[in-house]
Amino acid sequence: AATMGGVRLEDLLDLGTEPGEGTERPRTPAYVYDVDAIVQAARDLSAGFEGAPHLVAYAIKANTAGPIVRALGAAGCGAEVVSGGELAVALGAGIPADSILFSGVAKTAREIDQAIGAGDRGIFALQMESVEEIGRAAARARALGRKARVAFRVNPSIEADTHAHVATGHDEAKFGIALADLTAAYEAVDAAEGALELVGIGCHIGSQLTRTDEYLAGARVVLDLAAERRAAGRPLAYLDLGGGYGIDYGAGCPVSPADFARAATRLVAERGFSGTRIVVEPGRALVAPYGVLCASVVMAKRSRGEPARRWLMIDAGMNDLIRPALYGAKHRIEPIDAPPPAAGTAPGYRVVGPVCESSDDFGEHPFADPLPRAVVLRDAGAYGFVMASEYNGRGLPTEIFLAGGRVATIHPSRDAAAWAASRLFG
Ligand code: LLP
Repeated sequence: AATMGGVRLEDLLDLGTEPGEGTERPRTPAYVYDVDAIVQAARDLSAGFEGAPHLVAYAIKANTAGPIVRALGAAGCGAEVVSGGELAVALGAGIPADSILFSGVAKTAREIDQAIGAGDRGIFALQMESVEEIGRAAARARALGRKARVAFRVNPSIEADTHAHVATGHDEAKFGIALADLTAAYEAVDAAEGALELVGIGCHIGSQLTRTDEYLAGARVVLDLAAERRAAGRPLAYLDLGGGYGIDYGAGCPVSPADFARAATRLVAERGFSGTRIVVEPGRALVAPYGVLCASVVMAKRSRGEPARRWLMIDAGMNDLIRPALYGAKHRIEPIDAPPPAAGTAPGYRVVGPVCESSDDFGEHPFADPLPRAVVLRDAGAYGFVMASEYNGRGLPTEIFLAGGRVATIHPSRDAAAWAASRLFG
């Protein structure tokens, strides 16, 4: 049977969708996370820096749940945030302001103020993604009477071999300051006369990278710029090499997050920057493998036409996990109460949800008879719940957090009546 953090998933949940089957257990669809494994992943990544000064700024967009952000903060991680909401979660979860980076191409003046005003001297750095934004940050710093630390997120013009929706470092992307605009960016910081301090330069070329070469190409661009600054007598406090470490969704991933860290640390040392702090911004790799989405099976459907088709209808839909619909992502799906069938021994079922969209489809997966009462969608700890919606009048899924081999926290789903009440306002 499927387990998570040493706990049998079928023992955790109220499986089944028939009246009278209800127990006091939380309902499906339910995300279940192994918080200890998440903390261990952060420690394993940190070890990859082999003692070099570094900050793992967890990209909390991947999973903003309080129990996870708190645990990573307690393990020494900082945070990379992209909104005032995420900044509030990071601070509320105990991450010190001076370990928080704020990225985003369209930060509002309110968000900039929140970042500059946080803690005793503002956050670690506001990542500037355009020349235009530098002037805006300077104006807010002056208005608040504080000197704001800024960093440049540069666009290194690197095509990452990943899904087009998650590649961010190429020329057409809206992200980052183009290399051609850097001179203007330096001038804008100088013109800010004491309101801004440039502390770092970084890049992030994309997500779900399964090789280190493109990542290192991005790092080389950052190192070239850092060398120029050093030669100009204005060295940077840190180099931000971004996140994007891939995970194994079933098709394999030959490199671990620590492999990225080791390769980057060596490159940084070779270029004579071993004393400079390395910042990385991983999201997915710290959380994806350590979360699953559990769904009850509603029924199977067969169509006897040619070719015959089989569907397995589950109570989780694209509103709960949108990655397959949005990116064509494939998540492994297994029975909750039995081992997955050996290859070629069981017929394939198209696993689909209840949402009224053809793209509410989790792909084909084998299931033996008798069909399972519930299934587990693997590697759903990142970009799962955080991208969920209430489309089709569906409440958000349950979340269960395991630590120390037991349930530490449950965040229950909203039932249909509560969802309806939320829409009948007034
Ligand atoms: N830093 C920046 C500036 C980013 O834009 C991102 C992700 C990260 C760090 C973290 O990347 P990670 O280590 O998680 O790959 N929703 C998509 C992924 C979107 C990634 C957006 N930016 C998915 O489900 O695959």
